[in-house]
Amino acid sequence: MPTPEELLDWDRRHFWHAFTQMAEYEPLVVERAEGCWLVDVHGRRYLDGVSSLWCNLHGHRHPRIEAAIVDQLGKAAHATTLGMSNPPAIELARRLAELAPGDLNHVFFSSDGSCAVEAALKIAFQYWLQCDAPQPTKRKFLAFDNAYHGDTLGSTAVGGIERFHALYKPLLFDVVRLPPPDMRLGGAAFHLGALEEVLAAQHEQLAAVVVEPMLQGAAGMVLQPPGYLRGLRELTERYGVLLIADEIVTGFARTGRMFACEHEGVTPDLLCLGKSLTAGYLPMAATIATEEVYRAFLGPYVSGRTFHHGHTYGGNPLAAAAACASLDLIIEERVLEEAVSRKSRQLAQSLAPLAHHPNVREVRQLGMIAAVELAADGRTHQPFPSSDRLGYQVCKRTTAQGVWLRPLGDVVVVMPPLSISEAELELLGRVLCESVDAVCGVK
Ligand SMILES: Cc1ncc(COP(=O)(O)O)c(C=O)c1O
Repeated sequence: MPTPEELLDWDRRHFWHAFTQMAEYEPLVVERAEGCWLVDVHGRRYLDGVSSLWCNLHGHRHPRIEAAIVDQLGKAAHATTLGMSNPPAIELARRLAELAPGDLNHVFFSSDGSCAVEAALKIAFQYWLQCDAPQPTKRKFLAFDNAYHGDTLGSTAVGGIERFHALYKPLLFDVVRLPPPDMRLGGAAFHLGALEEVLAAQHEQLAAVVVEPMLQGAAGMVLQPPGYLRGLRELTERYGVLLIADEIVTGFARTGRMFACEHEGVTPDLLCLGKSLTAGYLPMAATIATEEVYRAFLGPYVSGRTFHHGHTYGGNPLAAAAACASLDLIIEERVLEEAVSRKSRQLAQSLAPLAHHPNVREVRQLGMIAAVELAADGRTHQPFPSSDRLGYQVCKRTTAQGVWLRPLGDVVVVMPPLSISEAELELLGRVLCESVDAVCGVK
């Protein structure tokens, strides 16, 4: 067994971490986890305040999910889904089709959120070549500033966060872009007006609009005005443009509905799911298509209508077994009802002291997804200089106090597992408030 010191040393020397400046990396090596707690190699405990990057739903080491994985492991760890199938993935596809809004009935599996978006982009493009009235000019995508849809080249192209995406522009296809549908910039009518102008002018070139419904996640959990999503659906239908809803962050009860689209009674043409699909146990993602989209891909092999796309581990039976067990838990443990009615109120209460903090611009929340935006002046919204890395400093302090959080710039995301207890929520809020005070210098 390597010692903790050896692990830290090898980690620094050989492990290139995602979205991490390795020259400044300070290792935190998680050895075990239980419920909402992570335990590092030194035995230090941290409350998992961001669900292991927005994916853990029911806590770590849930016996039902572990049992489902172990049971499947005794049958088969993997079988390809290229031209063949496996029972857990079949069951999961059926259950997702039942749960997803409208006639989103056909599930294409992949292994990460980026891949689910990549598949959706290619399906949308191919749809317009193969549908009953083909429109080969429809090959562009409309996406939003500050959007984040993943890191493969296609999902990067539709992304709109300068810090992550600008550098790669020479590698990316052109995207029609609109400002973010941020409710602080205007109401639904304002944003829909801008959208309609673009759709009216360019719908013959547009294959699809790609949106994170209800809130832009990596932008800082930025909320959209009520009525926007429904209006977006109506306009895309009117102008004959597909709607791709990226629910990789918002899916599976986090926002208080099974899927965020349900807040506005919307059925997209393609729905992308990932992260919480397996409750944070194994990598898996899905792109779900409506009957209309799916039908365009059917025909004899020689017609060339096949979706020539896929990944080795897509539809992996271990991951599918974990996902089915998670869906059982969501229903049996009344997770939606609890998350909507009780825990989201407790989360709001635990963050309430920050709402009027002089260094907080805004506390925002939808269901069990919350964010605290720091500012040099909370009233005028004057930001801190980005070089001060206040969000990072605050999270570094909460981590030292036993609450693990990871910021997005100066936005501190709070997105715990839905199974978090009242006492844990109280602790999370208290440590975050103290840390904001300490780092921002408030007595
Ligand atoms: C909205 C959204 N879409 C897609 C992705 C990409 O998912 P993954 O990191 O699993 O590739 C993310 C990741 O955070 C996301 O926030």
